[in-house]
Amino acid sequence: MKKDKVLVIGAGGQIGVELVAALRHLYGADNVVATDIREAHPMLKGRGPYEILDAMDGNAIRAIISKYGITQVYLLAALLSATGEKDPRRAWDINMESLLQLLDIAVQEKLAKVYWPSSIAVFGPTTPRDNTPQQTIIEPRTVYGISKYAGEQWCQYYNLRWGLDVRSLRYPGLISWRSAPGGGTTDYAVEIYHEALKHGRYTCFLSEDTYLPMMYMDDAIRGTIELMEAPAEKLGTRMAYNLSAMSFSPREIAEAIRKHIPDFAIDYAPDFRQQIANGWPRSIDDSVARAHWGWKHDFDLALMTADMLKNLGGK
Ligand SMILES: NC(=O)c1ccc[n+]([C@@H]2O[C@H](COP(=O)([O-])OP(=O)(O)OC[C@H]3O[C@@H](n4cnc5c(N)ncnc54)[C@H](O)[C@@H]3O)[C@@H](O)[C@H]2O)c1
Repeated sequence: MKKDKVLVIGAGGQIGVELVAALRHLYGADNVVATDIREAHPMLKGRGPYEILDAMDGNAIRAIISKYGITQVYLLAALLSATGEKDPRRAWDINMESLLQLLDIAVQEKLAKVYWPSSIAVFGPTTPRDNTPQQTIIEPRTVYGISKYAGEQWCQYYNLRWGLDVRSLRYPGLISWRSAPGGGTTDYAVEIYHEALKHGRYTCFLSEDTYLPMMYMDDAIRGTIELMEAPAEKLGTRMAYNLSAMSFSPREIAEAIRKHIPDFAIDYAPDFRQQIANGWPRSIDDSVARAHWGWKHDFDLALMTADMLKNLGGK
C-alpha cells in the first residue's frame, strides 16, 4: 500500500463519492480524508476520515493538511455548467478562488501533487465540434467554461513558475449509478436510466439529435487515478488532457435502453441547457492522453446501458 496521504475537497458529489472509494482502496481508508461543505454523503459515512470543509477557507485547508500530514489534494468542489449560468458571479468566485487558494497552499506546503478537473465546457461554438483536438480554438461561452479554461491556465502557470505537480483532465459528461449528478448539462444521461426503470418514460431537456461526449464513471475514476500515478516525465502538457470514451444523442441512448426495456418512451422539451450543449463539441480527440500516459476507455454505450440498468434495477 502507498504512503501518500490524500485530501479530497468536494468529496460528497457525483465524482467524489466514487473517487474516494477508489483512492481508499489504493492508499488505505485511513490515508484518504474526505471533505465537503455538506454533511457526509451516505457512501462516505463510517468508511474513513471525514471533515466538513469549505473549499474557500484557506486556513481550514491548511489546518487539515497539517492535522493529517496530507501529501496530495484533489479539488472537486465547483459549481457546474447549468447551476453556474443561474449565478455567474458566484460560479466564478467559487470555481476560481478555491483553485487559486489551493495552488498557493500547495506551493507553500510543498504538496507532492494536486488534481483539479477541467471539462469539455472549455470549448465553445467556434471550436471544431467533431473530434475536437487537444489544442484548438478555445472560446467558452458559459461562466463554467470560462472558469475551467482560466483554471487550466493557472495550473500550467504554477507548474511552470513553481514546479507544482498539478494535473488535470477535461471530463466529458459523466454517467454513474452510485451517485447523482450535480447540475450539469449532461445530467439527462443519468436521469434517463432512473426514469426508464421507474416510469418507463422520460422527457429530455435536450433535443433528440444533440450529440455530446460522455463517459461511464468507472472509466473516469480509473483515468483520474492513472493520470495521477503516471510518471511526471510522461506528461507533455500541464493544461488539462482531453479525455474521451463515447458520444451519443438522447435518441441513441433511448434506443440502447429499448434493447432492455422495449416499451420505453422518450419525448423532448429542450430548455436553457440546449443552448449550452449547442456550444460544446460532439466528439473529442483524446489521442494525446492515449499517447502520453496510456489512457484507454472500457465502456461504450451498450456496455454502460447494460451495467446502469442492472445496478439501478437490482437485477
Ligand atoms: N460530473 C460531470 O459530468 C463533470 C464533467 C466535467 C467536469 N466535472 C468537474 O468535476 C468536479 C466534480 O464534479 P461533480 O460532478 O462531482 O460535482 P457535484 O456538484 O456533484 O459535487 C461537487 C461537490 O462540491 C461540494 N461543494 C460545493 N461548494 C463547496 C465549497 N465551497 N466547499 C467544499 N465543497 C463544496 C458540493 O457540496 C458537492 O458535494 C467539478 O470541478 C466539475 O466541474 C464534472
